[in-house]
Amino acid sequence: MALLHHVLSLLPLVLLIIILSAHLGWDAEARKLHNPTKLFVFGDSYADTGNVRRDDGKSAWKQPYGITFPGKPAGRYSDGRVLPDFIAKSLRVRSPVPYRIRNWRPQYVKYGMNFAYGGTGVFDTSAPYPNMTVQIDFFQRLIREKVYTDTDLRNSVALVSVAGNDYSFYFATNGSVEGAPAFVASVVNQTLKNVARIHGLAVKKIAVSGAQPLGCLPLLTASSSFSRCNSTFNTLATLHNTLLSQGLAKLKEEANDNSSIVVLDLYDSFMSVLNHPSTHNIRNQLSPCCVGVSRQYSCGSVDPETMAKKYTVCDDPKSAFFWDLLHPTQAGWRAVYNNLLATHALQ
Ligand SMILES: *[C@@H]1O[C@H](CO)[C@@H](O)[C@H](O)[C@H]1NC(C)=O
Ligand SMILES: *[C@@H]1O[C@H](CO)[C@@H](O)[C@H](O)[C@H]1NC(C)=O
Ligand SMILES: *[C@@H]1O[C@H](CO)[C@@H](O)[C@H](O)[C@H]1NC(C)=O
Ligand SMILES: *[C@@H]1O[C@H](CO)[C@@H](O)[C@H](O)[C@H]1NC(C)=O
Ligand SMILES: *[C@@H]1O[C@H](CO)[C@@H](O)[C@H](O)[C@H]1NC(C)=O
Repeated sequence: MALLHHVLSLLPLVLLIIILSAHLGWDAEARKLHNPTKLFVFGDSYADTGNVRRDDGKSAWKQPYGITFPGKPAGRYSDGRVLPDFIAKSLRVRSPVPYRIRNWRPQYVKYGMNFAYGGTGVFDTSAPYPNMTVQIDFFQRLIREKVYTDTDLRNSVALVSVAGNDYSFYFATNGSVEGAPAFVASVVNQTLKNVARIHGLAVKKIAVSGAQPLGCLPLLTASSSFSRCNSTFNTLATLHNTLLSQGLAKLKEEANDNSSIVVLDLYDSFMSVLNHPSTHNIRNQLSPCCVGVSRQYSCGSVDPETMAKKYTVCDDPKSAFFWDLLHPTQAGWRAVYNNLLATHALQ
């Protein structure tokens, strides 16, 4: 009772502050608390925070994924946080809820939504999950159902991640190196169509991640014992990025509505961290922290009979850039994000 009395005695002061702040224009800030900027995320494992199903045996749900954050496997392809988690932080909102669990976490829908599925591309890949076209269909359906209003959308940010599953699928299904440039052009074209659709749904701020230096991924440096990036694949990534920047500049010009459509230059950010690792307290650049004990195993593998671990984890994931053969660690993403912040206006 004493506490209640104490609280009640503060009431006039609280009212005064509310009235004053309304006069001083702080109501915009207050409104922002109730209706925060929303982040909508589309793409693949560089952005997925829990859409792939727990029961389908994907690595994101296996030990030791998630050991740094949240402490157990939780559907992220890393030891911890991934790019959208950091971008949400810069927007001062919660990392958006994965689409798959939106109905279990209705209180978080106001922060936006994450539609990204690990393994997917702008075209179909071998992953049994929705490609980006279908991810945007999900978003469009929620808009039709008035889960998000026009005002919501005007004050929102979209992140589009295309990290290269289209390319792995292309090469895994007999795509030739000679045919690759034409395929890159079609991947970029499809990406531009997707961005145009998101823009057409009234989202005015769109960040599209460029290709990272694909040839530096441990998958491609394994043949040199993680010592040299593969220039063929880095050239492909560069071509992707050139076409993407040109296409997005054109899109922006055609839209002519003050939209902010930017490329997140993952190529330069990855390279900057890989070339100056100590600036970011990274000691282990090209070799992944978590690897299979031999070629037929990967990070998270166990012997199906004995359940013995068939992978090793480095002593300190916080000083490694790569987590597994394809994905950065949380420390890697943090370093990349800090580099992006220095070069982009993410707000
Ligand atoms: C995406 O998936 C849908 C449904 O499977 C399919 O109809 C469509 O052709 C795919 N889109 C692209 C661009 O591959
Ligand atoms: C790729 O080539 C191999 C060997 O030439 C063949 O066995 C396989 O069926 C081909 N795969 C596709 C998807 O065309
Ligand atoms: C990509 O789009 C451009 C412009 O719309 C077009 O000229 C080009 O042929 C397309 N390329 C592919 C590979 O689809
Ligand atoms: C890059 O990787 C491809 C495919 O694994 C390989 O054929 C090629 O020799 C590599 N190139 C370099 C420069 O390492
Ligand atoms: C774009 O911004 C300028 C300057 O703030 C403004 O005058 C113009 O009306 C805006 N155009 C649109 C289409 O919102």
